[in-house]
Amino acid sequence: MNAHAAAGAKAQHFDPQTSAFAADVLDGLSRQPKQLSPKYFYDAAGSELFEQITVLPEYYPTRTELGILRAHGADIAAIVPEGAALVEFGAGATTKARLLLQHCRIDAYVPVDISGDFLKAQAKALQRDYPELLIAPVVADFTTPFALPKAVADRPKVGFFPGSTLGNFEPHEASAFLRSARQILGPGALMLIGVDLEKSDSLLHAAYNDAAGVTARFNLNLLARIDRELGGDFDLSAFTHRAIYNRERHRIEMHLVSRKTQTVRVLGKSVSFRAGESIHTENSYKYSLERFTTLARSTGWTPQMSWTDDDILFSVHALVASV
Ligand code: AVJ
Repeated sequence: MNAHAAAGAKAQHFDPQTSAFAADVLDGLSRQPKQLSPKYFYDAAGSELFEQITVLPEYYPTRTELGILRAHGADIAAIVPEGAALVEFGAGATTKARLLLQHCRIDAYVPVDISGDFLKAQAKALQRDYPELLIAPVVADFTTPFALPKAVADRPKVGFFPGSTLGNFEPHEASAFLRSARQILGPGALMLIGVDLEKSDSLLHAAYNDAAGVTARFNLNLLARIDRELGGDFDLSAFTHRAIYNRERHRIEMHLVSRKTQTVRVLGKSVSFRAGESIHTENSYKYSLERFTTLARSTGWTPQMSWTDDDILFSVHALVASV
């Protein structure tokens, strides 16, 4: 949608994606406590801010996972079957997939993402660098069952779910995702998955409260997006970014906290905030190696190998689908 989506516009005049966003925003802001889904962070501006996050000095996950994939590329190559199809769940930038392509004998790449445009642009760029690779993008919500392209039916399957995206799932959703991935990939398939680990409060706090304020801008962009796409009138300066580690629940929680008592208009509705009231915008679950492998076993997977960096900040696991 665009600037014509003035306050008062009816949700049914939006395209289907914007309508779903509108419905979720109205629902989330009417709850107690208020909440918004982190999946809406990633419009063009949010995706750009996330790319900036991944190179912040305090944000260890991306560079640590890349380091693990690089350091153990030969080990990974040894367990990836020849002629495999790599199925990436939620394909963003292809940086990590490219690392696997360099090391392993992968013949086909199946990036799966809800955003078709981004998917096609990434696929095109990758095809230029790997002219022999069979690339078969699937536009789908990877949290629900989808069919693999027929072209890869007879190839060994290797699932790839890097970046600790699993961390955004509630425990029951993480189980459901792993079960569904096991179903989609089939018995005997391999899964390579990046999982962020529990660590000191100070390192976690710094990673989600960076000194340059990029994570704050990333979080606040959700309100900016509501203003842009749904004609909201959120004043971004009236909210502050807060990220805290909830150790009992093993998760970073991100919030947007109202600096004052205020009323905001969204889609013809008034939403009132008390001073200090928060909108819960994200959970980022952290695992221990043991809690993750237990979760994997309980969802039809057998842990085969896991690798970490020397400081045990992040982990990459190879799982095999039980028959
Ligand atoms: C993309 C979900 C892995 O939880 O670290 C980064 C998102 N949020 N900084 C994470 C995020 C704030 C990221 N994941």
